[in-house]
Amino acid sequence: MWLVTFLLLLDSLHKARPEDVGTSLYFVNDSLQQVTFSSSVGVVVPCPAAGSPSAALRWYLATGDDIYDVPHIRHVHANGTLQLYPFSPSAFNSFIHDNDYFCTAENAAGKIRSPNIRVKAVFREPYTVRVEDQRSMRGNVAVFKCLIPSSVQEYVSVVSWEKDTVSIIPGKKHPGAAADGCSLCGDWVK
Ligand SMILES: *[C@@H]1O[C@H](CO)[C@@H](O)[C@H](O)[C@H]1NC(C)=O
Ligand SMILES: *[C@@H]1O[C@H](CO)[C@@H](O)[C@H](O)[C@H]1NC(C)=O
Repeated sequence: MWLVTFLLLLDSLHKARPEDVGTSLYFVNDSLQQVTFSSSVGVVVPCPAAGSPSAALRWYLATGDDIYDVPHIRHVHANGTLQLYPFSPSAFNSFIHDNDYFCTAENAAGKIRSPNIRVKAVFREPYTVRVEDQRSMRGNVAVFKCLIPSSVQEYVSVVSWEKDTVSIIPGKKHPGAAADGCSLCGDWVK
């Protein structure tokens, strides 16, 4: 009996606010905290917040400043996607190309704000990687390191090692040096 009363009460509460039925706000992508993009390619960043029925999506700088469109440089699309267009080094503007942004979604259910998203442009520059000679006693382990210029180190990952142009399938990795992803110990060392 109590249960029936309770359900009836719930039902009437529901009916009392018909505009709230099915209205919600939610995050599409919580893990979106940093977007690094190439200046020669540009980037599109969808608003990580959304709503049902569709919410008004707006972008801001972390300082709270509004985002305004800058022709050929920055544009917020009607669907809430932030776009930064490719640019030459001389057009770099840290307010636009290296800044914290956030997005809000607003509808009848209220308003939510995404976490700050670091949007950072990097310039492509030519670079070379090196391997230094290592000496090791026969039968012992030798550790080789892929030397990457520090200016690009953050953005470069080692995808393979080769010996005489033949790819080496990694065997045992050195536990202490494996973190940088480019150390390899091998029996192939003569
Ligand atoms: C969320 O953002 C991360 C980082 O940009 C991306 O790798 C991932 O694919 C996104 N997930 C969805 C569901 O959009
Ligand atoms: C929003 O519109 C832009 C431009 O038309 C498009 O590139 C982007 O993929 C759209 N994003 C979503 C989430 O629909």
